[in-house]
Amino acid sequence: MIRVAIDGPAGVGKSSTSKALAKYFGFAYLDTGAMYRACAWWCLHRGIDLDAASLDEQLVTETVGEFFTDGHFDISVDPDDARVFADGEDISDAIRSSEVSSHVSKVSGIVPVRHVLVAAQRALIMRESAVDSFSEGRGVVAEGRDITTVVAPDAEVRVLLTAREEVRQARRTGQAVGAGAVGSDDVAARDKADSKVTSFMTAADGVTTLDNSDLDFEQTLDVLIGMVEDAI
Ligand code: C5P
Repeated sequence: MIRVAIDGPAGVGKSSTSKALAKYFGFAYLDTGAMYRACAWWCLHRGIDLDAASLDEQLVTETVGEFFTDGHFDISVDPDDARVFADGEDISDAIRSSEVSSHVSKVSGIVPVRHVLVAAQRALIMRESAVDSFSEGRGVVAEGRDITTVVAPDAEVRVLLTAREEVRQARRTGQAVGAGAVGSDDVAARDKADSKVTSFMTAADGVTTLDNSDLDFEQTLDVLIGMVEDAI
């Protein structure tokens, strides 16, 4: 089983390239950002005030813990149909809302919450897990902010995908480079908040940096395919 770990900031194209890479090799696909987003959605849904001046971190941690241990959470690892569920309800679109985007860093910034998520992610990418049975043991592409360093530092392929900030902002918003933050997902603000708890702007030892500022989607995918082929 080949594990491919891809980290990087918001707007670098991690999800689309990771999905295409998983599809190419018949691997499972795990979007760990979707898991953090699902937690933020669940907390908001439960009426927790994530804007509170003094956020009740213990309550958030307990609520997130229940989300996983009481079987409310489910995720599909099919790269053609990557979906997230809460109590059987498909929340894949809801977790991309501006409300969730603007609150997710508050949830992911709580260290005990990260411990819950890292454990859940490790369980998912282990042998004899959903990921393993989906790919019939071939492998998984897992993407996020701490996959190369914390979740799967022993992955066979470890990549930090980066691009210049103005390029990422433009990709996220579909606007021209230089247009600045448009809409409500300000990737620069989210990266700043996320950088306080995870290190995804510089590559850790043994992690290959791939700057795709001047590469298109196909070119980025080709480089990643080559890296996985070398590891097989
Ligand atoms: O990848 P995406 O932008 O959807 O991630 C949403 C948020 O989830 C990030 O802004 C970050 O706060 C959190 N995250 C994280 N660690 C990961 C993946 C995502 O903290 N491995």
